[in-house]
Amino acid sequence: MVFNFTRYLMMTSSLMANVNLLFTAVALSIAGSETGYSKLTSNSVYSAVGDPGMKRDGLRVAFEAWNFCNEVGIEAPAMGSPRAADCFDLVSSGKDSYRINHKVTEHDNRLGVGDPFPGLNPKSLHDPDLYAAEKEVYLGDLCQVVDNDTNPWQFWMIMLKNGNYDTTSGRCPENGKKVPPFPPGRFPCFGDGCMNQPVLTHQPTVIDYDSGSGSVPVMRGGFKGSYDNLTSGTGAGDGVNISYFEVTWKKRVGVGSWEFNHKLKTSKLYPWLMLYLRADATKGFSGGYHYDTRGMLKTLPESPNFKVKLSLDVKKGGGSKSQFYLIDMGSCWKNNGQSCDGDVLTDITRYSEMIINPEIPAWCAPSALANCPPYHITPNNTKIYRNDTVRFPYGAYHYYCAPGNAEHLEKPYSTCDPYSNPQAQELVQLLPHPIWAEYGFPTKQGDGWVGDARTWELDVGGLSGRLYFYQDPGTKAAKRIWTSLDVGTEIFVSNKDEEAEWILSDFDVIIT
Ligand SMILES: *[C@@H]1O[C@H](CO)[C@@H](O)[C@H](O)[C@H]1NC(C)=O
Ligand SMILES: *[C@@H]1O[C@H](CO)[C@@H](O)[C@H](O)[C@H]1NC(C)=O
Ligand SMILES: *[C@@H]1O[C@H](CO)[C@@H](O)[C@H](O)[C@H]1NC(C)=O
Ligand SMILES: *[C@@H]1O[C@H](CO)[C@@H](O)[C@H](O)[C@H]1NC(C)=O
Ligand SMILES: *[C@@H]1O[C@H](CO)[C@@H](O)[C@H](O)[C@H]1NC(C)=O
Repeated sequence: MVFNFTRYLMMTSSLMANVNLLFTAVALSIAGSETGYSKLTSNSVYSAVGDPGMKRDGLRVAFEAWNFCNEVGIEAPAMGSPRAADCFDLVSSGKDSYRINHKVTEHDNRLGVGDPFPGLNPKSLHDPDLYAAEKEVYLGDLCQVVDNDTNPWQFWMIMLKNGNYDTTSGRCPENGKKVPPFPPGRFPCFGDGCMNQPVLTHQPTVIDYDSGSGSVPVMRGGFKGSYDNLTSGTGAGDGVNISYFEVTWKKRVGVGSWEFNHKLKTSKLYPWLMLYLRADATKGFSGGYHYDTRGMLKTLPESPNFKVKLSLDVKKGGGSKSQFYLIDMGSCWKNNGQSCDGDVLTDITRYSEMIINPEIPAWCAPSALANCPPYHITPNNTKIYRNDTVRFPYGAYHYYCAPGNAEHLEKPYSTCDPYSNPQAQELVQLLPHPIWAEYGFPTKQGDGWVGDARTWELDVGGLSGRLYFYQDPGTKAAKRIWTSLDVGTEIFVSNKDEEAEWILSDFDVIIT
């Protein structure tokens, strides 16, 4: 009892947020080139993503759904494995006339356990977790773009996660260690089946010649669905109060950026949901995912030398528990500073997130030092300890939690949720504050929120280079190489159904 349930949920949620992370694919790799990525450009400033600013007419976008510990568990009936993609080339077919040449069929998108596909390891054929990981790689092969003079890349990734955890299932490890089932109560779950995968509907991208935007045709498509079972009636009730997610995209041919319009709604049975658009590593791990990944980051950005540019228009915030992340970055390194290598017992997911919902308070405070990182580093490299109540910027930190397997933590501390990632994790959650002005991040509550649509140029590299992350004393500082950069929200358990809506466009990662 001891245990404050709400508080625990809040903490875990943050973690989930983390979900996003990535790993340092890099890390994984391999002798020779540091990251396994080759630097093929001689420009000093260049884009790290395959589709800089989301301007490419031939879109590459994929979808993935995760359970509480970033696996599949059990596929939804008739839905196949929860990995799908919409990738196409736009082909000119005469004056002002185009054809969309899809690379992925609906048959590909519905592939599920038991269905073989080229390259599938037979051992994965009947394992929903391994099957999904290999399906992502297969869809990546279908979508891959090999431009001249650059590393191949695959797609933007839409990630959906369900925060329900059936603790009696024994499905999720604790800090990477397999543990037996334990009694319910600490996490939301309505009972058997609460960790299900969603129903997914795909609207393949089409061209609309009569869109009202002058003579310029508009391309549009989308993914949408629900976790609730509409046919069984459970939870669906009146058909209104059901969970819902939707991401639609549209772009005028040859003009501007793709606009990704996101909607996310929680329900009584699914009170904790996450939806993000991610730029993930094109190989190796990505944030929170311990399988080989596919993505958009054809060069992995390393602190401090990169920036992220994007436009964000938040239409609906998602209520008081919606931790909207105006950039969530994810990576992986071990407590001794070494790169991750896939060993879930020692690999640690590292996340940092700027939360822009002004209803989210700072839990870090002079009276709650356990929720603060041990110190803050200013832009002029001055270290300020959290016990320095005059100078420490408490309001700049929502919550810090340390990896559950760190052995030399400075007291007081709190540790991160041990179950919501395949391995231990560490979270540094930030709030808008004047101290971040130097990096172009939000400086006051409400910046970038509903009614304040903006284009941001965030010095994510500079900021992430100065954040505190745990390492064992005396070990060589980890290289901070980021394998996932995402935007979206994590709506935590609240006492009502909540709904968020936002539009993301112009996303770019610029190596400086
Ligand atoms: C790639 O390089 C070849 C040979 O230099 C050139 O003909 C082609 O147009 C280039 N393609 C792109 C997409 O730049
Ligand atoms: C919904 O529930 C019905 C009846 O229990 C079941 O037959 C069906 O497979 C379920 N559908 C999904 C998508 O879970
Ligand atoms: C560095 O920044 C801190 C806090 O903003 C300030 O108090 C201090 O005077 C600065 N130091 C230098 C050397 O500029
Ligand atoms: C504040 O914390 C630092 C780092 O842990 C410690 O060295 C210092 O003694 C503390 N100062 C006070 C006044 O407690
Ligand atoms: C169900 O939906 C209706 C209409 O949107 C809303 O007024 C009501 O508060 C919802 N119920 C719950 C429990 O959230």
